[in-house]
Amino acid sequence: MDKIKSLTGMLDLYDDGDKTNLPAKLFYLEKKIRDIFKGYKLNEIRTPILEDTNLFIRSVGGASDIVNKEIYSFNDRNDKGIALRPEGTASVVRAIIEKKLDQSNHKLWYMGPMWRYERPQKGRYRQFNQAGVEILGIPEGMPEFEMISIVCSIISEFKLQNCTIKINHLGAQKNKELFCNALVKYLEPFKESLDEKDRQRLEKNPLRVLDSKNNETQDILRDAPSIKEFIDSSSIDLLKSIQNNFSDICNIEIDYSLVRGLDYYSGFVFEAVSSELGAQDSFLGGGRYDQLCAKLGGKDLPSIGMAIGLERFAELIELKDSLVKVVSFLNVTGNLEPKAYKIAHQLRSLNKNIILDVHLSEGSLKAKLRKANKNNSDYAIIIGDDELKNNTAVIKPLKNELEEQITVSLGDLYSFFKSI
Ligand code: HAM
Repeated sequence: MDKIKSLTGMLDLYDDGDKTNLPAKLFYLEKKIRDIFKGYKLNEIRTPILEDTNLFIRSVGGASDIVNKEIYSFNDRNDKGIALRPEGTASVVRAIIEKKLDQSNHKLWYMGPMWRYERPQKGRYRQFNQAGVEILGIPEGMPEFEMISIVCSIISEFKLQNCTIKINHLGAQKNKELFCNALVKYLEPFKESLDEKDRQRLEKNPLRVLDSKNNETQDILRDAPSIKEFIDSSSIDLLKSIQNNFSDICNIEIDYSLVRGLDYYSGFVFEAVSSELGAQDSFLGGGRYDQLCAKLGGKDLPSIGMAIGLERFAELIELKDSLVKVVSFLNVTGNLEPKAYKIAHQLRSLNKNIILDVHLSEGSLKAKLRKANKNNSDYAIIIGDDELKNNTAVIKPLKNELEEQITVSLGDLYSFFKSI
């Protein structure tokens, strides 16, 4: 019979114990990032993965790539337009409005899968995971510093090399619009020289032309107006102040051509990129979205946030061998012996810091020892028919060649296990 395969661009994340594989790194990352978020006194929020499609049309923007061609949407049995969330910010704001919490401040974090119908390639999936932070209810100022502090803490925690945090300021909504008009006016005469993709961007979402990967477009853009000419000096001061304050911790660069692919941004925006990632080099992005809450029917709630692409971030880290000791428990009695299993259960309660890997399948002692070595075990505890009869066990050191294998009483086995 034909086998059913997973959908294109959607990964099964199975940690088989190999620390160089993506799932092991991803799971580790999730745990560590959660701890960092908690250290900033952020509260967790979990929103549904399905939302009304209109939520994303109104927030991320009908002309954005995400809504235009990447959204996973379908009609449910009631003919209602439903979308798998392509990002987390819109859902968080929707939830805050729905709970009538849009008149106070919130510092929130979330983690989970997102969906975008993109052409899969290295670092770009159709289902991927994000860890995000949203600080709601506080105008420009301190939250910008808090946000970059979180980014720097994460980059430092994992000792990432070769990465840069790019920052820019899109001004208030009106500055952004004036700049956008000036850019369109400048680009119109070059329309015929742009490729199909950039021509479409010019029509639907002109700021995105600045993101073009086409060299000819980048040549044309060299003399284009810059956002720098359209924003207030206080915005430029903020960028410089953030750069100065964090430059001893992270590499921060002011990039006036940085625009973000989602419509809701105005004011401070940022992205972290790594030269180790290839074409999809951005592993984190965010910015201020002061108008979004009102646009979704709530109060004016000045806000800022960011999201980390966990699969891309995982590419950048290396896992060290854990300091926690692993002991393999090998039952090599002829038959299934519940008494042997009971010893294993007893051991667990004596030392919670040890990982006890009970080998459940049948097999020869040799095969089990091979597996114990592969599992990176420090010791093997072996119980065969003789040991069971005599109430003893064999302790075999697997890493320290100077230590000899010994047979001990069960009492001594428990004492040994407690002392590791
Ligand atoms: P975003 O830049 O669209 O921002 O996505 C954030 C990160 O998610 C990207 O930097 C990238 O690492 C990762 N990412 C995006 N698409 C894919 C994909 N197809 N495969 C793998 N990774 C991907 C947002 O989503 C905003 N909600 C961030 C934000 C929060 N702004 C304010 N608050």
